[in-house]
Amino acid sequence: MMACQEWPEPVIRVQALAESGLTTVPECFIKPRSQRPINTTLVPNQAKSCPQINININNNDNINIPVIDMKHVYCDDKRLREETLERVSEACREWGFFQVVNHGVEHELMREAREVWRGFFHQPIQVKEKYANSPLTYEGYGSRLGVKKGAILDWSDYFFLHYLPSSLRDQAKWPALPTSLRNVIAEYGEEIVKLGGRILEIMSINLGLREDFLLNAFGGESDLGACLRVNFYPKCPQPDLTLGLSSHSDPGGMTILLPDENVSGLQVRRGEDWITVKPVPNAFIINIGDQIQVLSNAVYKSIEHRVIVNSDKDRVSLAFFYNPRSDLLIQPAKELVTEDKPALYSPMTFDEYRLFIRTKGPSGKAQVESLTSKCDSN
Ligand code: OGA
Ligand code: NI
Repeated sequence: MMACQEWPEPVIRVQALAESGLTTVPECFIKPRSQRPINTTLVPNQAKSCPQINININNNDNINIPVIDMKHVYCDDKRLREETLERVSEACREWGFFQVVNHGVEHELMREAREVWRGFFHQPIQVKEKYANSPLTYEGYGSRLGVKKGAILDWSDYFFLHYLPSSLRDQAKWPALPTSLRNVIAEYGEEIVKLGGRILEIMSINLGLREDFLLNAFGGESDLGACLRVNFYPKCPQPDLTLGLSSHSDPGGMTILLPDENVSGLQVRRGEDWITVKPVPNAFIINIGDQIQVLSNAVYKSIEHRVIVNSDKDRVSLAFFYNPRSDLLIQPAKELVTEDKPALYSPMTFDEYRLFIRTKGPSGKAQVESLTSKCDSN
C-alpha cells in the first residue's frame, strides 16, 4: 500500500457546510441503513397505521463504561492499591474502554485545552485553510480519513498534529491562533504523556509483565510516538442519517480522549449494541488500541467505537494517541505466547499498520482481524 499525495475529491469542510444553514444532509454523508445510528424496527400494527414510526430497540440508557478513581494507585494502602489495579484489569479485559478520575491532570488545563481548540475551529475559514492537510502525513486541518473515491464521508472536521517523538514535533505546523494554543497544547501534551505512562505501567503489571514492558515495547520514553487528533463535530440537520465518525478501532497503542463536557456522542460497541458513553466531569476516556491487542496477544482487545452527531450542539473532542515508535516491529509478548495460546498476530511496524486506515478510512476491526487470518494461513 502506498501513501497517497492528494485527496481524491475536492475537500468539503463540514463545519462550513453546517454553518451555511442547509436543512438536509448531502448524499455523500448519508450512511447505508445498517450503519445509521439508530437501529430501528417497525412494529407490525403501528407500521400499518403509521408507516413512519420508528421504535428504538436498543435501550442501554442506564449502562455506562466503567469509571475508575485513580487516587489510590500510589497510596500506601496495599489493599486499596490492588483493588484499583484489579478494576483497571477488569475494564481492560471486559470493555477495552473506561473513564478515569483523579488522574493527576489539572482540571483547568483540560478546560483550557478544549477551549483553545474550540477557538481554533471558530476562526475564519481562511485562517484554518492555511493548515489544510494531505493524506501523505495527515498533519494539519482535515475533513476526511481515507482516500477512497466516492466514499461516504463522516460529519466532522479535525486537526492532527505530532507531539512525540520530538523530531516530528513542529510547532510551526500547529495553529498560531488562538495565541495561547501552542503553549497550552505543549503543556497539555506533557501531562497526557505522563498520564499515559502511568496507565501503561498499570496495564503491564496487570498482564503479568515487567512494569516497563509496554513502554519499552513502544520504544521507551524518548522514542515513543504521540499524536493529537482534535475532532470537531458540527451540528447536523439530519443526525439519524449520518455519523460524526464511522465505526473503527484505534490503530495505535492506547487513546486518551478528552470528550466535550456538555455533549455526548461517543458510542462503544458491546456485542450487537452500541453503548453511548456518558462522560463524567473532569474524566478522561481511555481505550485500548490495536497495538496493545497485538502485544497482549488479545488478552486485551481494541474495541470498535463511533461517534453520533446531533442537531443542537457542536461537539469538540481531543483524542491523544499513545503509539509505538513507528519503525519498531510490534508482535505478541513472548510471555503471553504459550502452546495453548500461540501468537495470534504476525509482526508489523506501526508505520506499515497505519497505512490501512489512512488509505481505506475507518472500517471497524477489519485490519487487526486481517492480521490474524494471515497468521493462521502461515
Ligand atoms: C477518534 C475517536 C471519539 C470522539 O478520534 O479516534 O474515536 O469522541 N474519537 O471524538
Ligand atoms: Ni477512535
